[in-house]
Amino acid sequence: MLGRLNHVAIAVPDLAAATATYRDTLGAKVSEPIALPEHGVTVVFVDLGNTKVELLEPLGADSTIAGFVAKNPSGGMHHVCYEVEDIIAARDRLKAAGARVLGDGNPKTGAHGKPVLFLHPKDFHGTLVELEQV
Ligand code: CO
Repeated sequence: MLGRLNHVAIAVPDLAAATATYRDTLGAKVSEPIALPEHGVTVVFVDLGNTKVELLEPLGADSTIAGFVAKNPSGGMHHVCYEVEDIIAARDRLKAAGARVLGDGNPKTGAHGKPVLFLHPKDFHGTLVELEQV
């Protein structure tokens, strides 16, 4: 069911500082910051060739990652995103196996304009998992 690793998302309190670390210290190719108000984040994409890292900074008062950054003031790994071919089939298989799908259980349009779902971290060994249909 699982395909490639689409991205690893790292939530940070200071996007400019995190971007500088990846660009200048690590020598990675980074994008300009992109504000995604409907997702409550500003994102910088780090292009690694085989996959991406997404640096996320909270945007707006009700950002979904604001609480995470408050609990992890130096930043931290927020989620991993795996690709699936059929997100409804994947969801139904996971629900049948007892996994909890966050929200109302229906795919939403993610940061890349594709359908995504999030799975409860307690069902996946402490890691928030995003599935993206590609
Ligand atoms: Co993501």
